[in-house]
Amino acid sequence: MALLHIMVNNAWRGLASAEGMPVLDVARGELGLTSTKEGCREGDCGACAVLVGEQIANTVRYRAVPSCLLALGELKGKHLLSLEGLIEGTEDGLTPVMRAFIEENASQCGFCTPGFIIALTSWLAEPQVPDLAGALRAVDGNLCRCTGYAAIRRAAARLVEQFKDLPLEPTARLKALVSAQVLPQSVLKFIEESGSSSLQTSVPHDAASGAGLDMAGDEKGKATASAPEPSVIVGGGTDFYVRNPDPDEGFSPLLTRTIPEFALVEYRDEPQGKWLEIGAAVTVRDFFASPLVQREVPGIERFETMFASTLIRNLATVGGNIVNASPVADITSMLMALGAQLVIVPETRAFESRAPIRLCPLEQFYLDYKKLDLRPGEVLKAIRIPAAANRKFSFEKASKRKNLDIAAVNTAIAFQIEEKQFKDVRISLGGVAPVPMLGTAAMKVLEGAPCNPADRKTLASLAMQTAQAASASISPISDVRGSAEYRRRMVHQLMLAHFVRFFEASGIAEELFP
Ligand SMILES: Cc1cc2nc3c(=O)[nH]c(=O)nc-3n(C[C@H](O)[C@H](O)[C@H](O)COP(=O)(O)OP(=O)(O)OC[C@H]3O[C@@H](n4cnc5c(N)ncnc54)[C@H](O)[C@@H]3O)c2cc1C
Ligand code: FES
Ligand code: FES
Repeated sequence: MALLHIMVNNAWRGLASAEGMPVLDVARGELGLTSTKEGCREGDCGACAVLVGEQIANTVRYRAVPSCLLALGELKGKHLLSLEGLIEGTEDGLTPVMRAFIEENASQCGFCTPGFIIALTSWLAEPQVPDLAGALRAVDGNLCRCTGYAAIRRAAARLVEQFKDLPLEPTARLKALVSAQVLPQSVLKFIEESGSSSLQTSVPHDAASGAGLDMAGDEKGKATASAPEPSVIVGGGTDFYVRNPDPDEGFSPLLTRTIPEFALVEYRDEPQGKWLEIGAAVTVRDFFASPLVQREVPGIERFETMFASTLIRNLATVGGNIVNASPVADITSMLMALGAQLVIVPETRAFESRAPIRLCPLEQFYLDYKKLDLRPGEVLKAIRIPAAANRKFSFEKASKRKNLDIAAVNTAIAFQIEEKQFKDVRISLGGVAPVPMLGTAAMKVLEGAPCNPADRKTLASLAMQTAQAASASISPISDVRGSAEYRRRMVHQLMLAHFVRFFEASGIAEELFP
């Protein structure tokens, strides 16, 4: 087994554990980093959060992720920081984030506290102007059973005040946080060494050249070329490790996030058309933050926080959301409305930039409940969204809680307005069938219909017809998330909500809900 070279707190280590082991177990076991707590082991509580530093393009960034769902192999060439690492070199064994917690009595039994400290440290490291809303968003995946959230909120407010003048340039910001002892000196060491050639031998290869696989990748390439068994594939692991919390010793999956080509977002302009290609291993966080995604789908970023929590979004991938095949997968719902096509490659050639591809429209990918048009030995490499001018887009989700909840029903809609008519209308419906599906009956109502924002009566009538067509076309089941009747009604109401979002200024809400 090849050694995994990982910077653990202040020193590089060669770890012999298998790539598929959850980091939580290695951290608490072999590494003795017991500040990393095991709470739910399902990504729900944040007690196990760790900071991961990695080089992205020419900068280093640190993000908090739940270590219970993180594969050890993901950390090759990266920096793992736990609380033990954060306090190294501090005068009194405390960082300013910890001090804020003490001063505001934000810790009682202390079990959740390391996770909160890691999440808030990660938030400070993000190149943005700190505000309370951002701080609270950063801990939306952290639960506390005893202190109550008011004290934690006060600690966060104290940090906003203390760090409001941090530089926005990413490296300067990390250096300022090291000076303030929020981050340890090892961050400077990682910044310095992450660009060095010695380290680059252990980080993923340059996929564009199709050569120079890293140690593990090279072995994997050879193994998969000769091995008849396809590998188990793991993206972020946020579905996989919930289902498989204790993988067998030696578990070594194909980790899509270690393949640089799988993490690209780029426009492709070819004779068949122009599209935005999004790598299957792009995280949900990076998907919403991508300037290209925001350009292609104006306003999509406002729906980010409807997906899980910050900790999960930092790890979960777009491809994992699709292949997991949940009928209520949120990114899948969005991409289906956007006319996405899947780019599928053979696993044995996943590391090649020019591997042969198979294309599959997203709505045809789902054959039945959790049954996919993905053959053994195939991997989802990327997702294509056709380029469109002036695309309008909306997403709606009905769930019991605002954060960290799976939808009972979700829906997305995309269209363009040409010559005052709805054009290229696509509507997705989730949670109403064994698979995510298109609302073709509702799409037919809207396609070619007049779209005049000044005529709110016609728009309201169209909205009602679309909502009725959508709810009449489905046969949902009843389960713990909602009855069949609830789902039908929610689809109707969420369809109206799309129209209210688009045509709020026209006063459509007054027509629909007099
Ligand atoms: C606390 C919590 C909250 C959540 N909230 C939401 C939510 O609000 N909305 C939502 O939609 N989901 C939610 N999820 C589910 C999950 O986070 C998403 O489905 C996520 O996008 C899965 O991505 P992943 O990379 O982690 O998938 P993984 O767990 O890595 O993989 C999922 C499946 O896809 C396969 N796979 C992954 N990538 C590929 C690939 N490139 N090619 C072939 N197969 C592949 C894996 O083998 C596995 O079977 C939540 C999960 C948790 C733990
Ligand atoms: S143990 Fe709860 S999120 Fe990992
Ligand atoms: S302080 Fe006890 S769980 Fe948060």
